[in-house]
Order: sequence, then C-alpha cells, then structure tokens
Amino acid sequence: AAQRPLAGKKVIVTAGGTVERLDPVRYITNDSSGKMGFAIAKAALDLGAEVTIVAGRTDVSPPLHREGLSLVRVESAQDMYEAVNTLWADTDILVKAAAVADYRPKQAADRKIKKSGDSMTLELVKNIDILETLGRSKRSQFLIGFAAETDHLEEHAMDKLRRKNCDLIIANDVTAEGAGFGTDTNIVHVYDANGQVETIPQASKEEIGLRIMELAAARLTGESK
Ligand code: PMT
Repeated sequence: AAQRPLAGKKVIVTAGGTVERLDPVRYITNDSSGKMGFAIAKAALDLGAEVTIVAGRTDVSPPLHREGLSLVRVESAQDMYEAVNTLWADTDILVKAAAVADYRPKQAADRKIKKSGDSMTLELVKNIDILETLGRSKRSQFLIGFAAETDHLEEHAMDKLRRKNCDLIIANDVTAEGAGFGTDTNIVHVYDANGQVETIPQASKEEIGLRIMELAAARLTGESK
C-alpha cells in the first residue's frame, strides 16, 4: 500500500491546449504540449490510481497501453468541460493541467471564411471556466488547479485557489527558463488554502508530476508528507 497509495482512486487529468474553431480549417490554440499533464497521469498510474486523461491538442503522445488508463480526446473548452463533467461525480482527484482558452470566436463558420476586406475583426466570447464551475459543485473530490503566471505568482495563484475552490494550486512562472509551456522541465510553487506548501526547483515534468500526486495522496489519506 505504501507504494500504491492511490489504489482504488479515480483520477482525471486534463492535458494539452484547447482548440477554439473559427472555421473548419482555422482555430485559436496555445503552446501547451501536453507534457505536464501526461507526466501527472503517469505518476497517478504508478501510484495505483485508475486514470482518465482528457486531452486537447498536444505535441507529444499520451502514455499508451497502461492498465487502468483511459484517454478521451476533446477539442474545445466546452468539449473538455462536458467530458470532465460526465466523470466528475465518480472522481476522487481532478488535476487541471490543461491550458484552457478563456475566450472562443463568437461564431464558428461552417465553411472556410473567404478573404474579403483589408482588415477583419474577430469577436470573442467567454468560455466556461471548467475549474471554477466544478469547484462550486465539489463534494469530496480533491481538486488540483494550475496557475500559469507571468508576474505576482503567489498573489494570482492564491486568488485562483480561492475563486476556483481548489485544494491545491500548482503555480508556474511561464516566462522562467526551463519552466512552463513546451519544456521538458518545470519549476513550480504549490499552495493550499493556508499559503505556500512547497517549491519544487527545476526538475523534469515526470519528477514534478510524481511529487504532486504524492502530495495529493498524502492529503487524501490524511497522512502529511
Ligand atoms: O503542456 P505543457 O507544454 O507541459 O505545459 C504545461 C502548462 C504550462 C500548460 C501547465 O503547467 C499549466 O500551467 N497549465 C495551466 C494553464 C492555464 O490555463 O492556466 P490559467 O492560469 O489560465 O488557468 C488556471 C486554471 O484554471 C488551470 O488549472 C486551467 O486548467 C483552469 N481553467 C482555465 C480557464 C478555463 N476556461 N477553464 C479552466 O478550467
């Protein structure tokens, strides 16, 4: 049990970036590669959990052929919300490593948009905030959010933790070298409702994923670690 503290637990990990369509061949997305989310999913499997990855667009392959793993591919923030929400009631831990678009094009055209005037204006409308919406309906689930920041890391992370009702928030300074989008390593600061829990200096996303899931396991089973 010591090595498999998440045996019998159901974990959802979101990974990658959402894709918000303008037309059948064009879209808005971001630089999330999926590496952080996939590393967390692998760590959760290694600790014995049953894992569902809900992934948007990614640059790397998800873990494959692992017992206890399911993979759901989605496109938009709305699709990601629906996929996670379907599993939510029966989930023990949700880790939201995905980079979700805050806005989407107001209209997604059915056909390729034709070139016309010298300029064009794109109107965007707000997407659902998946973490905040699920945070509001949280019962016994353990909710881990991420915060991708460029400044005032602690302040913004603590604000997201409270607003989204998370148990832990993993903040990364996405402008720091060796951290954030696309890199093989990350540097993270972990906060709970009382403030800073720990800082994980530059390490591979695999190592960071494992530490995050160990922290979650310890808190879920009531041991401190
Ligand atoms: O995939 P990699 O290349 O490995 O990069 C990893 C990463 C930089 C994407 C990752 O470490 C990270 O920071 N993920 C969160 C990115 C993000 O969307 O951060 P945010 O601060 O904008 O959002 C805060 C939290 O709310 C996140 O958990 C996010 O999933 C969630 N969110 C945001 C908007 C929205 N509409 N719904 C959400 O659920």
